[in-house]
Amino acid sequence: MSTHQRSDIMLSPGGEQPGREESTMEFAMKMFDIVKAGFVCMAMSVGSRAGLFEAMGRLEEPATCQEIADAAGMRVRYVREWVGAMATSGVIDVVDVEKETFFLPRHRIPILLSQFRRSVTPFCQLADCFAQATGEVVKCFAKDGPTGVPYSTYSTLQDVMYLVRRSHHEDTLVDHFIPTIKGLQEKLESGIHVIDIGCGRAAPSLILASRFPNSTFYGIDLDPKAMAAATKEASAEELTNTCFETHDAAKLPADWSNKFDYVTAFDAIHDVAFPEDALSEVRRILKPGGLFSLVEIKGNSKISENIGNPFGPVMYSTSLLHCVPVSMHFKGGKGLGTIWGKQSVCSMLQEAGFRVLGVMDVPEVPEECHYLCQN
Ligand SMILES: C[S@@+](CC[C@H](N)C(=O)[O-])C[C@H]1O[C@@H](n2cnc3c(N)ncnc32)[C@H](O)[C@@H]1O
Repeated sequence: MSTHQRSDIMLSPGGEQPGREESTMEFAMKMFDIVKAGFVCMAMSVGSRAGLFEAMGRLEEPATCQEIADAAGMRVRYVREWVGAMATSGVIDVVDVEKETFFLPRHRIPILLSQFRRSVTPFCQLADCFAQATGEVVKCFAKDGPTGVPYSTYSTLQDVMYLVRRSHHEDTLVDHFIPTIKGLQEKLESGIHVIDIGCGRAAPSLILASRFPNSTFYGIDLDPKAMAAATKEASAEELTNTCFETHDAAKLPADWSNKFDYVTAFDAIHDVAFPEDALSEVRRILKPGGLFSLVEIKGNSKISENIGNPFGPVMYSTSLLHCVPVSMHFKGGKGLGTIWGKQSVCSMLQEAGFRVLGVMDVPEVPEECHYLCQN
């Protein structure tokens, strides 16, 4: 065995006994766990979208499939199969074997009901959303195939991203994230212009606009439907200090030069086809001395340095199924990928002319990294 192959085994996450050869059967079991998790993940997404976890959360006693179906107002034949997938994978418990009753223990509710910050089911829905594109992604591998996949393929993306983000930002943005930037809270209270780039359905802007009524919160995104949804939500929340517009981050309105005091980009720049242009636009629209918070997935630029990163498998898969294809769909698109990594992020920021004031953890969000920059 070559040194190179040997080091692959030594570096394998979960290879708890370094130095011992992994058997074929051990590897097969590891692979089976991955396959099983993929199937269960899809069943969890279906249950989450259908409202079954919520229905089980409302049931205070163990229930049969018929009782669960009745409580949820659903067809028992489908509920039974879903219960089977959940019970055999340990997501819900079998309580009475004779009567076949099932229960969702209370401590699992925050992990399974999508409105909770620590819920995993929005991520199941995200995987489900990306699964819509697998056929098209396969074609992209061919040298004469398409270079990428259009956003239109991911029909549920914006709604699912909003589900993934909103409760997270609600719990962390104002109380934990903003205070990490010295003096920002006071400026937001007195009134400044803020813009979020690639904002999707604009969860952060909506939250900040409600908390800081003297400031004005803009958001831009390529997706007009996301902008319409954000505008609708702002009006439902009776916010008068927001403005959501459809623009390409790489080509912002000419009259926005020196307009903003603070710019944010949450998990968006790596999806942009021309990120260098977007960063130079951020500099143009920022006032001199203005701040830019670039939040990206934490990781190193080299794959080998991400082995053991617990978020690595999810992030590289997200990148493969969505981030790279949507960026490279545009002719000449860069396709940075989700884990373009600290080294590449810092060098692109510096090349754009930013002063990187700090590279920080994002409080309460271990998979993300905050690059605080000044114009
Ligand atoms: C992963 S999502 C993140 C959305 C949001 N910031 C969040 O944290 O939920 C990336 C967003 O970037 C947007 N986007 C991609 N390329 C863009 C571009 N060139 N200009 C503006 N927005 C873009 C996408 O439409 C998408 O809403």
